[in-house]
Amino acid sequence: MIELILEAVKYILPAYVANSSSVLFGGGSPIDLGRELHGNRLLGDGKTWRGLIFGLMSGSIAAVGIGIILGSVLISLYGVLISLGGLLGDIAASFFKRRIGVERGDPAPLLDQLDFVLGALALGSVLFVPSEKVILTIIILTPFLHLLANVIGYLLDFKDKPW
Ligand code: CTP
Ligand code: MG
Repeated sequence: MIELILEAVKYILPAYVANSSSVLFGGGSPIDLGRELHGNRLLGDGKTWRGLIFGLMSGSIAAVGIGIILGSVLISLYGVLISLGGLLGDIAASFFKRRIGVERGDPAPLLDQLDFVLGALALGSVLFVPSEKVILTIIILTPFLHLLANVIGYLLDFKDKPW
């Protein structure tokens, strides 16, 4: 059990780092530059260039670090790919939330928690697909970790909402 969890975290860690860093370092100019589609924002003020760029940089640094520790260029490359995939998954979820009329920051249960790991696994799959067991562990574990991280982020004033 513990082994499976460690295995899952090992695969997905750079995407976690990328996603948390986008919250920690995000802010400023929104990616959609305020543009709207059918009266709703394209993405909203919660998806910023700074979050995307710092998220990708932090995730990539983590990926290269893990790759060096494990002695594999492929693991580094996979980590960079899932960092980008995770950030894009988060952006795609905001796009979807705005289309169904959910305002920026309002909750979309499960989607908010899983968007980035689904994006990460999807983009990562061009290079590597983890075992079903590992994927399932990631999908079950992530909502809990995500919620925990967000409550901590909220208490430390990095986030406006605890989800
Ligand atoms: N963030 C950012 N840039 C990103 C992703 C996140 O600046 N690419 C920052 C924003 O400050 C955002 C916070 O991280 O408010 C939390 O991210 P998230 O919960 O994904 O965004 P929400 O504000 O909840 O917006 P949405 O409803 O679009 O998910
Ligand atoms: Mg949110």
